[in-house]
Amino acid sequence: MPDGERANGSWSRASLMSLFDRERGVLDRRVLSDESLYRLELERIFARGWNFMCHESQLPNTGDYLVNYIGEDQVIVVRDESGRINVLLNTCRHRGNALCRAEQGRAKSFVCTYHGWNYGLDGRLIGVPGLKTYYRDDLDLERHGLVKAAQVDSHLGFVFATMAADAPPLSDYLGDVGLAGLGMVGAFGEVEVIDGIQKNVIDCNWKIAVDNLFDWYHVTYSHASANSSGFTEIARFLQPNQQMVMLGEYGHAISGPAMPKARQDQIDGLSDEQRVEMAKTLPGNIVRIRPKAAAGLMGAEGVRSLGHPNIFPNLWITLGGLQMCLRLPRGPSSTELWWYTVVPKNASPEFRRQAIRFCNHAFGPAGLFEQDDGENWSQSTRAARGVSSGAIGHHLGMGVGRDRVTVSATGERFIETCINEHAQRWLYRSWTEWMAARDWAELRANHSPAPTAAV
Ligand code: FES
Ligand SMILES: [Fe+2]
Repeated sequence: MPDGERANGSWSRASLMSLFDRERGVLDRRVLSDESLYRLELERIFARGWNFMCHESQLPNTGDYLVNYIGEDQVIVVRDESGRINVLLNTCRHRGNALCRAEQGRAKSFVCTYHGWNYGLDGRLIGVPGLKTYYRDDLDLERHGLVKAAQVDSHLGFVFATMAADAPPLSDYLGDVGLAGLGMVGAFGEVEVIDGIQKNVIDCNWKIAVDNLFDWYHVTYSHASANSSGFTEIARFLQPNQQMVMLGEYGHAISGPAMPKARQDQIDGLSDEQRVEMAKTLPGNIVRIRPKAAAGLMGAEGVRSLGHPNIFPNLWITLGGLQMCLRLPRGPSSTELWWYTVVPKNASPEFRRQAIRFCNHAFGPAGLFEQDDGENWSQSTRAARGVSSGAIGHHLGMGVGRDRVTVSATGERFIETCINEHAQRWLYRSWTEWMAARDWAELRANHSPAPTAAV
């Protein structure tokens, strides 16, 4: 590392900004391997941003809880007696033990297995063995409740939390692109998450898994086996020359195939009943044509997207909103993936059965696609650790400077083009801005607005 690149043992603003060359689309591979950058990501991205916690349908009753993460901080997400969902750090205020060891369940309170401190569903410390005798009543229970996320909020039932009190409200953070992304999941009405989150670990940097979700270039090549096995017909959905990209504030993006405008205009003229009938004539049992109300959630242009939203930093939405995946960081070279299957609440038993079957065979540990992807991600990550191979830049320059953003009459911004790497560049460009900002005030002041001209 060149002398002076770090300021006082930490990365300087200039050195962080230089890690991605946005003009050429070249990424410094240390972004995928460096331990100190990883520690800084936990602080400046995960502890600062809004993190996906759960869908409300996963916690229907008082005391229902599940464990999730904000970076590497484990949190208990629990519905209390008042119906509110709390996000509590899963670490005892006495000596740090984990309060909750199960992944999910139902509890009346959380009792620590070490010395028996007992916490209510809202995180208050409600019982301490020996409070009178050993502590001689000299312990302020009020001051020793579990630490809570600074803000918890939801959109369409999807619950997010941030540890940053000064983070913008969730709806401002999501902006039009983040809202459109979640709108893709809610486009068919109220949804529920199917029980049984599939979890596995891949030896890759979490950002490689994120940038890949925008990557429609690899699909034909990497996933040739899924095609040749007859599981899917890539040519039917890829549409290499009909791609649409939406870039949003703070790093959110949607990228992938899109419905041609003329085709959407035809659909717009149909009633919801006619759309259901039309879907029945299309190949594939779980193909859905979005109802009229979807445009209200995704925007008149966004509703055409058949691509992949990412809610920055790490929530991927796929299969037209049937599957969601969290890419949880576990060190510079390790990522834990959590796969959720989401179906409309009013889905028929037959649709539900087919959706679960299709999702399990598409992505996730048993999915044909992720088996192909995981191997590539691991090897790209491994190369980033080498002295010589780590010194080479990652090339993300496809289509750089070749496209323009269209701004619709209603203010929606989108790029229509062929297969490209705009969203990957937006991810890493936003990453440098998050990393270089010391607090939310700096990030607010210095992050890139969504582009409106050439990209
Ligand atoms: S560490 Fe929890 S009660 Fe002591
Ligand atoms: Fe893939």
